[in-house]
Amino acid sequence: MTLFGKTIAITGASSGIGAEIARLARFQGAHVIGLDRNDPMITLDGFVKIDMGDAAAIDAAVAALPTGIHGLVNAAGVSGLADKDVVARVNYLGLRHLTEALLPKIAKGGAIVNITSILGAEWPARVDLHKDLAATKTWAEGEAWLAKNPVPQATCYQYFKEALVVWTKKRGYQTFMQNDIRMNSVAPGPVFTPILGEFVQMLGEERVAADAANIKRPAIADEIAPPVLFLCSDASRWVTGINLPVDGGIDALYV
Ligand SMILES: NC(=O)c1ccc[n+]([C@@H]2O[C@H](COP(=O)([O-])OP(=O)(O)OC[C@H]3O[C@@H](n4cnc5c(N)ncnc54)[C@H](O)[C@@H]3O)[C@@H](O)[C@H]2O)c1
Repeated sequence: MTLFGKTIAITGASSGIGAEIARLARFQGAHVIGLDRNDPMITLDGFVKIDMGDAAAIDAAVAALPTGIHGLVNAAGVSGLADKDVVARVNYLGLRHLTEALLPKIAKGGAIVNITSILGAEWPARVDLHKDLAATKTWAEGEAWLAKNPVPQATCYQYFKEALVVWTKKRGYQTFMQNDIRMNSVAPGPVFTPILGEFVQMLGEERVAADAANIKRPAIADEIAPPVLFLCSDASRWVTGINLPVDGGIDALYV
């Protein structure tokens, strides 16, 4: 598998999983453009400051990106300790807005990968709601839908990761059929990154202790990056709309 000569835009490239994806993509020969609210700490080929919670900032960042991009990885995200409106904007509405706005600049045969989570594994329980939200076409329509279907603060992180799994499936089918661009998602279990402590606080010690008994250990970010880049590469050219668990087996516990 090689990414030689491909241009890949990566949100969240300034920390954790996104930074590790950026590092590995460059190692494989890709030209990597990072997008983040914070400055990068690794060598990149380009960097655009962006606030994924702000539609105008996303539009400005898209205008600054080149055409003929081969890949987009949406790794920027916040935990459920953030206000639920911020979680909605950064983890779902903004991600969707960036992806839709960037589609015309993505080359045929290109690929998009969204980072979901094992905490989105229970999407089938609310699939009709998630399909309804996925059917909204714009940021404003999405916000109006959420105003009528409020999401509780306590489970907003899980809700928007579930919603992202469903949107990736529905929209990934369409982008492949209409634009020849694939879209998939990767669902990590716990990963040692700066945000991990926030997930522990969000879920509570009891739940974390129960989960810890079921897994070997949290992942290292460089165990998440290779499957993400496989989905960016031509080796996965017939794969679209999947949500790939990369979690040391936790997904099996939901069966
Ligand atoms: N670490 C885990 O245990 C874990 C598990 C499952 C899924 N995830 C998901 O993986 C993704 C990456 O998380 P991570 O663990 O690398 O966390 P991280 O905190 O290390 O990195 C998140 C990055 O997103 C950026 N970001 C946050 N809000 C932003 C905004 N409004 N605009 C632009 N950039 C913004 C941050 O600056 C940071 O660089 C997230 O979507 C997260 O939900 C993480």
